[in-house]
Amino acid sequence: MKHLLKLMDLSRQEILEILNLADQLKYEKHHGIPHPLLQGKTLGMIFEKSSTRTRVSFEVGMYDLGGHALFLSSRDLQIGRGEPAEDTARVLSRYLDGIMIRTFQQSEVETLAAMGNIPIINGLTDYCHPCQVLADLMTIRERKGALQGKTLCYIGDGNNMTNSLIVGGIKMGMRVTVACPDGYRPDSELMRWAAETGSFLCTSDVFEAAAGADVLYTDVWASMGQEEEADARRKIFRGYQINDAVLGIAAADAMVLHCLPAHREEEITAKVFEAHAAEIFEEAENRLHAQKAVLVKCLSER
Ligand code: CP
Ligand code: NVA
Repeated sequence: MKHLLKLMDLSRQEILEILNLADQLKYEKHHGIPHPLLQGKTLGMIFEKSSTRTRVSFEVGMYDLGGHALFLSSRDLQIGRGEPAEDTARVLSRYLDGIMIRTFQQSEVETLAAMGNIPIINGLTDYCHPCQVLADLMTIRERKGALQGKTLCYIGDGNNMTNSLIVGGIKMGMRVTVACPDGYRPDSELMRWAAETGSFLCTSDVFEAAAGADVLYTDVWASMGQEEEADARRKIFRGYQINDAVLGIAAADAMVLHCLPAHREEEITAKVFEAHAAEIFEEAENRLHAQKAVLVKCLSER
């Protein structure tokens, strides 16, 4: 695997291999078995947005793999003062073995990949969040035993998380249902692709989407970069919440996942969040294992 820019670029087999390696790395981490698969490799981590999980898990992940990670805030890099991504890519390619980038535009990530000659890993853009969804799929498989045939229901804003969940879920044989208000639907091209598979539903009716679901998923109503819209969005998204009533219509043993950070009483009630905290924080832990698998796949196969 050369890069991880978006899940659409990966085959079902490649996703499966990442999930299997992630399970193995989790086992080794929990049993104190060393796995220095990236000895001597250096990862640059460019952040143009805030992060807790992505930053810490990539840094710890590189350490666990015997490599080194550099935190590069766009506030300090020349990229933050307008140096083009294509120049930054050509320079950093000469120092580093790989780059993880969190930014706004997907095109910036694609430009880095096209212009540099080292692996680029997407740590979130406005368009998608592939690393998070690999950890989500890992968590669902761990708890449900399989992905094939399960129904994943996403409730809330049709954002970067939704786009990646649709692609990742459907590629792995899941049925994906999405409930979001009109005007806040996921990417239209992705929805056309998803609809053609016959395993997708997008509706504005939360209960239609959640009926019988094995996994309920939500994310914030206002993403990073949308802070000024937060008040307006609170009104628009009212009702697009995981609460007891929604849980009541899902499968009796439904899991609840959230990529975090969570806003209690907005997209999820505090009661449901705490009742499903074991799943949600396992999901957060799995970021570490899933990302290590991505790092090994991208950086060791060069
Ligand atoms: N879920 C996630 O990507 O978290 P951070 O924004 O803290 O990295
Ligand atoms: N949709 C959220 C995800 C955070 C992990 C955002 O982009 O802010």
